[in-house]
Amino acid sequence: MRFPFRSRAVEPVPGPDRDDEVLLETVGLTKAYAGAAGELPVLSGIDLTVRAGEIVALLGRSGSGKSTLLRCLAGLIPPSSGTVRYRGTPLAGANPGTALVFQTFALLPWLTVRQNVELGLEARGVPPRERARAAAQAVDLIGLAGFESAYPKELSGGMRQRVGFARALVVEPDVLMMDEPFSALDVLTAENLRGELMELWDSGQFPTRAVVLVTHNIEEAVLMADRIVVLGARPYGTIRETVEVALERPRDRDSAPFDELVDRVYRIMTGRPKDTRPPGRTDPDPDRRTVAGTPLPPAGVDGLSGLAETIAHRGGSCDLAGLADELGLDIDDLLPQVDALDLLGFAEVHGDDLLLTEAGAAYTGADAQDSRAVFAAAALEVPLIKLIANSLGGRPGATVRTGFLRDLLGRHYTVEQTDRQLETATDWGRYAGLFAYDADRQEYRTEAPGR
Ligand SMILES: Nc1ncnc2c1ncn2[C@@H]1O[C@H](COP(=O)(O)OP(=O)(O)OP(=O)(O)O)[C@@H](O)[C@H]1O
Ligand SMILES: [Mg+2]
Repeated sequence: MRFPFRSRAVEPVPGPDRDDEVLLETVGLTKAYAGAAGELPVLSGIDLTVRAGEIVALLGRSGSGKSTLLRCLAGLIPPSSGTVRYRGTPLAGANPGTALVFQTFALLPWLTVRQNVELGLEARGVPPRERARAAAQAVDLIGLAGFESAYPKELSGGMRQRVGFARALVVEPDVLMMDEPFSALDVLTAENLRGELMELWDSGQFPTRAVVLVTHNIEEAVLMADRIVVLGARPYGTIRETVEVALERPRDRDSAPFDELVDRVYRIMTGRPKDTRPPGRTDPDPDRRTVAGTPLPPAGVDGLSGLAETIAHRGGSCDLAGLADELGLDIDDLLPQVDALDLLGFAEVHGDDLLLTEAGAAYTGADAQDSRAVFAAAALEVPLIKLIANSLGGRPGATVRTGFLRDLLGRHYTVEQTDRQLETATDWGRYAGLFAYDADRQEYRTEAPGR
C-alpha cells in the first residue's frame, strides 16, 4: 500500500535551493574513543562539505565510523581534533541547523504521535499554538494524518519511523540527518518510505535544504544521494573516495547506469584501502599478522560456515554482489563472513568473486568432526585465537582472564571493538574445541579433555 503522503491541506513550503551554499563543513576531523592504553582514533582526516540542495550519503561497513561522523556533524559529540562548521561558524555544542532521524525511531512511548512530533519544538521554546500548527503540517506532509492521537505501540514500524521523520522535519532544519533510517524496517516498507521521501524531495516540498544519510546499503546510497562519501573501515575510518551520482531522478534501479554505479561503489567498498594509516602510526609488516593488525570480524561460525557451504554448492566460486542479491541481503551483511573466511584462509576475494581455497573445500567437504579439526587448525593461525590458545598452553585447569586480553587489545582497539572481537574469539574457540569460556568468571580455560 502506498500512502497518500501529500494531502491537499499542506501548504507549499520552499524546496531545497540549489545555491551551493556550504551548510556543513569538517576540516581535518579526527575522533578517538578510549582504549585501555589511551585514545584510539576511529575517524581520521575527514574533510567533508555539505551544500544546500544536495543529499550526501555516508556509506561504509559496520564500524567505519559513520554514526560517529554524523554525531560530530550534529554537534552531539566534539571531534578530538579538527573543526566542524555550520554556515562558517565552528560548532560549540549541538548544531542548531540539524535534526536527526534514528534507526531505532527513538520515540517516547507515553506520548502520542502529535506530542512526539511537537517535542523538538518544545525544546526550542516554540509556543503551544505554533507548535500545534507546525506539528499538524509535518504530520500531514509525512502521511500520518489520522494517526495524531495514536501511541507508538499502536503503530507499525513504518508508521513509527514516519513519526521519527515528522519530529525531525517539524523544526525545518537546514540539514536533515538520518542514521540508517530504513534498516529496521522490512524490505517493502523501507522501499515505500524511501520512494515517498524522494518524491517529496524532488517536488521541493521537503522543508530542509540538505540531507545527510548514513547507510551501509549501496543501492540505497545510489538511489538517493547526489554524492556518496565512502568511508573505509580498516584500520580507521577515513574517506576512501567520494562518488558523484549524476543519474536523473527518479532513479531506475533496473537501468544499466544504475547497476554500473552500484558495481563501482561496491568495488570501492571492498577494495583495499589506499593508505589508511592515521598520522603517527607505523604500519606493521603486512606479512606478519599481529593482533593489532588482524581484527576478528563480527562473524560467528554458523554464518561463516553457511557462506562457505553456499560457495561450495556453486562449484567453489561465486559473484558476491550477485549472491547478496539472490539471498535478499545487502553486500554489507555478508562482509563480516567474507572477512572471516579470508582470515581463516578458507576463501579469497578476486575482484567481485569469492573463491573457496583448498582449505575451504576441505572444511566444507568434511564431516562434522573433521570439519571442526580443519577449523581448529585454521583458527590457530589467527593471531587472537593463537594468543588465547598459547596462553593456556593446553594445560588442564589453565585459565586466561579476559582482563589480560582487554589490556592487550585495548592498546589498539576501543572498548567496543575489543568486546566484539572477544565475542568472535569465544565463538570460534568453543566450536574448534580450543578453549572454553566462563562468563561468570570472565576467563577462558582449557577445554575439558574428551570433547
Ligand atoms: N562510545 C564509544 N566508545 C568506544 N568506541 C566506540 C564508541 N562508539 C563507537 N565506537 C567504536 O568506533 C567505531 C566506529 O563506530 P560507529 O558506530 O561510528 O560506526 P558505524 O559505521 O556507524 O557502524 P554501524 O554500521 O555498525 O552502525 C566502532 O569500531 C565502534 O566500536
Ligand atoms: Mg552506525
